[in-house]
Order: sequence, then C-alpha cells, then structure tokens
Amino acid sequence: MSNYHIKHLEEYYQVYRKSVRNPEGFWEEIAEEHFLWRKKWDKVLSWDFSKPEVKWFEGAQLNITENCIDRHLATRGEKTAILFEPNNPDEAAQHITYNELYKRVNKFANVLKVQGINKGDRVCIYLPMIPELAVSVLACARIGAIHSVVFAGFSSTALSTRINDSDCKMVLTSDGSYRGAKTIDLKGIVDEALESCPGVKSVLVAKRINTEINMVSGRDAWLQPLLDNASEHCDAELMNAEDPLFILYTSGSTGKPKGMVHTTAGYMVYTAYTFKNVFQYRENDVYWCTADIGWITGHSYIVYGPLVNGATSVMFEGVPSYPDFGRFWDIVQKHKVNQFYTAPTAIRALAKQGAELVEKYDLSSLKVLGSVGEPINEEAWHWYNDNVGKRNSPIVDTWWQTETGGIMISPIPYSTPTKPTYATLPFIGIQPALMDENGDELKDNQVEGRLCIKYPWPSIARTIWGNHQRYKETYFSAYENKYFTGDGALRDEVGYYRITGRVDDVIIVSGHNLGTAPIEDAVNEHPAVAESAIVGFPHDVKGSALYGYVTLKDTGESRDQNNLRKEINQIITESIGPIAKLDKIQFTSGLPKTRSGKIMRRILRKIAQKDTANLGDTSTLLNPEVVQEIMDNVL
Ligand code: PRX
Repeated sequence: MSNYHIKHLEEYYQVYRKSVRNPEGFWEEIAEEHFLWRKKWDKVLSWDFSKPEVKWFEGAQLNITENCIDRHLATRGEKTAILFEPNNPDEAAQHITYNELYKRVNKFANVLKVQGINKGDRVCIYLPMIPELAVSVLACARIGAIHSVVFAGFSSTALSTRINDSDCKMVLTSDGSYRGAKTIDLKGIVDEALESCPGVKSVLVAKRINTEINMVSGRDAWLQPLLDNASEHCDAELMNAEDPLFILYTSGSTGKPKGMVHTTAGYMVYTAYTFKNVFQYRENDVYWCTADIGWITGHSYIVYGPLVNGATSVMFEGVPSYPDFGRFWDIVQKHKVNQFYTAPTAIRALAKQGAELVEKYDLSSLKVLGSVGEPINEEAWHWYNDNVGKRNSPIVDTWWQTETGGIMISPIPYSTPTKPTYATLPFIGIQPALMDENGDELKDNQVEGRLCIKYPWPSIARTIWGNHQRYKETYFSAYENKYFTGDGALRDEVGYYRITGRVDDVIIVSGHNLGTAPIEDAVNEHPAVAESAIVGFPHDVKGSALYGYVTLKDTGESRDQNNLRKEINQIITESIGPIAKLDKIQFTSGLPKTRSGKIMRRILRKIAQKDTANLGDTSTLLNPEVVQEIMDNVL
C-alpha cells in the first residue's frame, strides 16, 4: 500500500522523508495505485531548472475526466459530485450526481466538437459560478481542448487581453450573472471584449438570469438547445501526461498577465493527493471551498482535486453577505458541510459582523477549516478557530500559488499541531528553502528569507503560454537551480513556516493578486494624469488595499479632486475590474525618484503605511523635497 492517506504526525514525517529521499519512487507509487491510466509512463521525472524544463510521468496516457468521473460510476454513480447552492437561498440547491455529471460533461464535450473545437484548441470560459462552469471545464478536458477560465469579475479589456494572448477560438459565457441583490451583464462584457478579438469564431451562451441580450448572428448560439441535441457519450481523448490541461492567468509585477500552463498527469496526481490529506476527506463528507473557479483554488480544490477523489464538492454562486452575513453558516448547516475552505478576507469581513450571526447556526458538522490566498492575521485566525471551529476543527492555513497548482505548505489536520499565522510544514514532496540577500540558503531554523523550492513537484506550472523566456526570468533566474516564489517567509524554531508576504510589486487585495504596473498604466490613461505610483497599505478587511500617488499634468485648469478620483477609478474598473480600484488617491506635485529617475516605491509604501519613523536617507533623491510634501498630505 502506498501512503495515500496520512493519519498522524509520525506518519507525516516518515512519508515526508521518503518523498524527499526518493521522489521518483515515492510519486510513482502514489500514481500507480490511485489513478486510471490508459498507458503507464516510461519515466517518472526528468527536470532541469536551468532551462527550465520539468516533465512528470512522461510516456503515460490518460484522460483526467475519466479519473474525475467515469471510474466512479460503478461505485459512486448516485453520489452527489457537485452540490450547487444558488445565489438566492429560496432557489433549490442542485445535487448533481456522478451519473448526471457524466452525461452533462459528455453532452457538452460533443457540443464543443460539433462547434469545431479540437484537441489543443484554446477555449475561454467566462462564466459565473453555475454548474455550466464546472461542466465546461471538464468538457474541455474530455476532448483535450485547453481551457482558459477568466474570472467573471474581470472587465472587457482584461478579458480580451487574455483571449488574445492564448488565441482562444471560442468563448463560453452566460446571459448574465447574479451577485447578491445585483445582476451583471456578462454577455455585454463579452461583446465589448470581442470587438478586439478577431480569433474568436463562436460564443456559446448559457441562460441564467433570463434577460434580453444581443446575439450576434453567425457567432453566438444558446447553449441549451445544442446540449439537448447532443449525445450522452463522448469518448475521452487520449492525452499525453505532459499535454496542457489548462491556462490560467495570474498577475505579474510588470507587464501583461502571465498565462500559467498546467499539464495533465502531474497536476492530477498532486491535486488529488493534497486534497485527500489536507482536508482529510472521507467518503460521504461534504466539502466546500468558497473560491471562484476563475481562480486556481477553484480549479484545483472545487473541480479537479475533489472529483478525482470521488468527493462531494459544494459550488456556491453567491456572496457571503447575501441575503445577510450569515449566508456561509446557513449553507454549512443546510448541507452539513464537513470541510470548509475560504480566504482570510472573507473571515475578516464576517468577523466584523459579530459572532451572533455564527451562533444562530448549527456548525457541528465541521471537521476541518481551511484558509488560503494571503497571510491570515492572528485576530482572524482566532476568530475563525473560536467562533466557527469552536476550537474543535483544526485550521489548515494552506500556502500555495497559481504557479504551484496545488497546496505546498500546510498542516495536515489532526496530525500537525497548528500555530496561528503559520502555514506550518511543507507538504509531502515539497522541499522549501529560505534564501538570504546574497543568494545563499539559510539552513538553520529561526531565520527569515525569500522562499524558494529546490526540487520539482508534480503540479508545477510548466511555462507561461507563449513566453518561456519570461517564465525562466520570473521564476528561475533569481536563484540558481531553484524555483523562486516571490514570497518572503520565516522558519521558526521547530521548522514551521510563516509566509510574510510578497517581496515584489504584487499586492494581494482581498485575496486577489494584483500587479501594480497594469493599474498604473490604467491610471496614466486619464488625460489629466502625468504620472502615478501604486503601493499597498494594510486594510482591516481586505488585508491590503491600494494607495495611489498621482501627479497631474499642468493643463492650466483646476479640477475637482473627488471627481478626478472617481474618473481614475472608473478607468481602472474598465481596464482591469472593480477589484483593482484604489482605496486612496493622493495628488502630489511629484513622486520621489532616484537620480536615475526610478520611483522610490519603498518610501511611498512606508508613507502610505504610516510608518515614517525610518524612511532612510532621502537626501540622495533627485527631489527630496516632495517627500515632506507627501508626508504632510498623506490620506
Ligand atoms: O503571496 C502568496 C499568497 O498568494 C500568492 C499566490 O496568489 P495566487 O496565485 O492568486 O494563488 C492564491 C491561491 C493559492 C502567494 O504568492 N498566499 C497564498 N496562500 C497564502 C498566501 N500567503 C500567506 N499565507 C497563505 N496561506
């Protein structure tokens, strides 16, 4: 028997040692026993971080949907695979069984085929959290099309950039979406985006909010009639282990978003194995991850990881505040959720509403509480532990990234003793390293440095779509022979890791990664703006929020600053989405610069964070006088 399910701390240490001493042997054993392969691999791993190139299970053939669906039908056909909870609590939840999921995915896959989608084609999915989203992801995988899900809160410009970057042929969307009491005109956003996407040949539209929408003839079609006519069987395409499964965009500190490419076999093995252990999932448990499938958390831990394990995965369409801030707990009670996985920003927002809203509900089904996306502060950790978990459900603070595909550092609940704000121990097979400023590895405990990973794991992203050079520069150039995460971390006296945050110009707002450069580009589009710099500052709910310093062109006319602020945020909303709006905008006569003209963000960051005690020596700046002006007018 392989070590697929770890049940206590000694076992963790023993399996961890095994996975590090002989990674290939270890992963081969896991892969052998728990997955459906059409052909076994010739070689478990080949890798070279200097190229960089990583290949797992080369030579193997499989289809991930056979692992997610087909192989469960004999034993779990009538078990709920996806439990859909609609935005409106009065609308009935849908229990989509594995049998039903099989039919829906196969029908959808046949529709894609009829529409001319072939293996390797890219399909952009811009859908709200409705069953069609999960089904379409799996339908793409069924026929070997590469899905590129774009979070349906992104603007039309952000959508078109992503569609064009990976040359998507088709877009899947809906007539609109529900978001609490509001509806959003998704199809309108798609229409606008497609004005600049000549490569998109067809748009399939799911009906959700039943509004009148514009259908472009020859391009757009309603999905349901096509599904009604499609066959319930579609042979799964035989995929090579290293064939791309999906592209998912993430923000970089500069430049356009990076289309991270994940491949098939390694991603499947690692997401399944982490899901089983980090959530200690057992047959008949109901598992709920509140993320959107538009992010990696939803890909790995709403769709693939749970379904490969034959789990019941809740998919929630709505928001935590609708119809009131008790909604999450109402859902936990209603569906007797056993594992609950959410983000610190949600926990902080709910904590603000007081414990009464939690106490109204019976949360006794909960066994494991998860946290992901940003560092969880001590207060939020304790609130979660005391009020939601009643000190009975361990909190798994899971650190990972879009690029890592799966959870990298996390406690194993009921095994690893937790410690507030610590993601604790590396997961099986993960070899972290902390690096100092000189590029040397800090080998002791009680050190702080930049977090790298020394050895490949099965679900590492293989490249950036269309730009391998950027992949190499971003992740493999800072430290020789290591994957650099972009995060800082410290290791305590027993070897537990605490992630301290990004060390680059990525800011995490409400758990969403935002690069400052594209937001600055948007701000600079305003005709009155000369220059801008954006930094993060602490926010009690969002974790971090955005602070913009803006200098204006001297146009001779005076402008109302509040109107300008609104206009700037409107441009950001249009070019990226509302998540990137600036909380504070300070107008200033200049930005502090070095003599070579580089904006000194470090100083701006400290001022925005109201931490001006040690700004350092500003006298060498090109324009030291603006520092005082900025400090005097800080918001
Ligand atoms: O800075 C880390 C932070 O989120 C970044 C990755 O963001 P993204 O690719 O959007 O993936 C988020 C979901 C996996 C990381 O570089 N981060 C993620 N999880 C944690 C975290 N920071 C601290 N603690 C975490 N548990």
